[in-house]
Amino acid sequence: MGKLWAGRASGAIDEAAEDFNRSIRVDSRMYREDILGSVAHARMLAACGIISPEDGEAIIDGLNAILSDIDEGRLEIDLSAEDIHTFVEQTLTERIGEPGKRLHTARSRNDQVALDIRMYLRGRAEATGELIKKLMLTLSCRAEEAKTMVMPGYTHLQRAQPVTMGHHLMAYAMMLSRDLSRLRDAAGRMAVSPIGCCALAGTTYDTDRHYEAQLLDFGAVAENSLDGVSDRDFCVELGSALALVMTHLSRLSEEIILWSSWEFKFVELAEAYSTGSSIMPQKKNPDMAELIRGKTGRVYGDLFALLTMLKGLPLAYNKDMQEDKELIFDAFDTVDACLTVASPMVGTMTFLPRNMRRAAAAGFINATDLADWLVGRGMPFRTAYKLTGELVAECTRRGVTLEELPLEAYRERSGLFDETLYDAINIDNCLMRRTSYGGPAPESVERQIEYIREIIK
Ligand code: ARG
Repeated sequence: MGKLWAGRASGAIDEAAEDFNRSIRVDSRMYREDILGSVAHARMLAACGIISPEDGEAIIDGLNAILSDIDEGRLEIDLSAEDIHTFVEQTLTERIGEPGKRLHTARSRNDQVALDIRMYLRGRAEATGELIKKLMLTLSCRAEEAKTMVMPGYTHLQRAQPVTMGHHLMAYAMMLSRDLSRLRDAAGRMAVSPIGCCALAGTTYDTDRHYEAQLLDFGAVAENSLDGVSDRDFCVELGSALALVMTHLSRLSEEIILWSSWEFKFVELAEAYSTGSSIMPQKKNPDMAELIRGKTGRVYGDLFALLTMLKGLPLAYNKDMQEDKELIFDAFDTVDACLTVASPMVGTMTFLPRNMRRAAAAGFINATDLADWLVGRGMPFRTAYKLTGELVAECTRRGVTLEELPLEAYRERSGLFDETLYDAINIDNCLMRRTSYGGPAPESVERQIEYIREIIK
């Protein structure tokens, strides 16, 4: 395919350099946006009297035919073209002749590509949002099931206080709800049309940027033409929102990996979401979770590369910016792939509540409750804290739990103790009483599930 910029240039460009310069392998996925953007452009040009109504019609019909031919496999995108903009424009001109050559009036590939990416990413952000919602829903359903499955809550990976698997899973649903809102925020700020900024300095034609933006469903137009063609903030913002999605998926994956180990065995992954070892017959490996954790670095890399690509660029367009698409596309592809696997992986894992409870029974996760019981009897918290610490040490010496320590041992240390202390440190009771807003008691987890379901709606 020929070059759009043939005219000034005489000698042929070096073959390797030409390929190096080419972006069609990456940007061909924006063919739909490129064509729809061009349809709107032709409509605007005709409405403003910059091209004739007949030329406008011919261009629009030609573009629509190209779109359906690509969609239906009748037209293959020529990967020897420089980029998707070149391919579409040249195909149009081959098909309809002269009028095709008028399409590029009052625009440049600089505003065209800035428009295409925004349109394309708008769709991607929407689709990723749906996948996030799906995982939020899965987590909520599993949390409903697991809202009474007591397990230790950890700090420093040391058993700390009782929570439930349901409460724990809902923490991830909350993180994802913020991811969803960040993605929507970023998409909202991206909804500004750059088309009509042209190469960098607008145009002398009497165009109507607002009309063209409206045709393409943009609520606003870029206020400054230099900014319009050189702004890639939205790629960074989306990349950052995606990086955080990966952070959350990676933390969840890490926990699933731990939980499915023999050391924990709180969950068992379904066969469909685990693998075996080629040598150790007993192995069931959490490969999907590990891959999600592993791919997190890619998305961070995409974000960092985007930031770095932009930081030294003088205004306005520079070819460095061609790199934006490969990076942000990779970030979206990776996140979507991870979300697609994460939902059913979480949805199909088996809970092993007896193991959770066994872990909850050891580790003195009711020590705070014991101290709180003493506070209820009038002891200052700090004194109760110290006394409980001594009791824990006593239990450790005897190799028993707080529930197993006889009343005499308690009474030796404080006359405040009586039989009712055992009720207070019963793990189930400890959980049921944690009814504070946001806490792990089943009714509180119910409220959290309700909150997430509201967002999904
Ligand atoms: N393929 C280019 C990109 O992705 C399109 C814009 C080309 N503009 C230019 N002045 N060379 O950035």
